[in-house]
Amino acid sequence: MQIQEALDFQDPSWPQVLIMEDEASVAKGLGMVLSEEGYQVDLAMTGRSALDSFNQKMFDLLVADLRLPDIDGMEVIKQVKRRRPETEVLVITGYSTVNTAVEAMKLGAFDYLAKPFTENEFLSAVKGALVTKEFSAPDSAAVALESLPEDYLRLTEVMNQIRHTFAGQQHEVITILQKVQNALGYIPTEALLQIADFTRMPEAAVYGIVTFYERFRLLPVGRHVVKVCRGTACHVKGAGTILNELEHRYKLSPGETSKDRMFTLETVACFGSCAIAPVMVVDDKVCADMDPDKVGKVLNDIAQNDSKTDLH
Ligand code: FES
Repeated sequence: MQIQEALDFQDPSWPQVLIMEDEASVAKGLGMVLSEEGYQVDLAMTGRSALDSFNQKMFDLLVADLRLPDIDGMEVIKQVKRRRPETEVLVITGYSTVNTAVEAMKLGAFDYLAKPFTENEFLSAVKGALVTKEFSAPDSAAVALESLPEDYLRLTEVMNQIRHTFAGQQHEVITILQKVQNALGYIPTEALLQIADFTRMPEAAVYGIVTFYERFRLLPVGRHVVKVCRGTACHVKGAGTILNELEHRYKLSPGETSKDRMFTLETVACFGSCAIAPVMVVDDKVCADMDPDKVGKVLNDIAQNDSKTDLH
């Protein structure tokens, strides 16, 4: 597949989500919420039927209830992770305990939602899980965010320098990609095409390298990266309210960059600072005991500082 095809690829069947939930009304409700957002959803009312579905089809995300009529949900997660480790898992349960949360995370679950949860909390958790797989939700603002004309000017400058400095050998490709990312903050499609041409590598191979290494970004990134912890301790202490604030007030979902390119929002599994949960990190600054009001204050201060710097 050529790069442009790969990036333009919008198979309507992607991403694929399997909801394993024995309460029909809950399963259908969650399915509807995701379908309206463009996800392709399958339902499984038992653990056995969920495993059968995984035998027949690839899923990007398993939304897993833990209490099922046949197999323990935790056992299903274990088997899914063993057979298809790339599948993300979001646990939903009405019987939440710290032990089950910890066990689920140890098995590789991305997040743990205790019922009842709001539609927004659910959608936000699903988006967060899929962002870790390099997907964005179909209507993500990050996907819609396009390269700016100044990106192309900067890319032309950087590629000119690269052509003078490097020989165009295949072993140089990672260093070249890094130079472009250092200059632009991400690697636009046009850069992939030019680098493939310069190193005489197939476009798909360069694209494969970029998507293989986590350090490379294919989408523009904001001047400030806001990371919100979704680990168990932060989740229990209200990380969801922080994400809601970012979503409603700043129109940012995990993986997205604001239209003015000021902020990019990411989520992480744990910063290792659980004692000061819920934790948010902006660039290198750790913000402890966060709540929605503090989020507004931190981001407003940053925006004001930036505008002062821009004036000088
Ligand atoms: S769970 Fe958030 S810092 Fe550990």
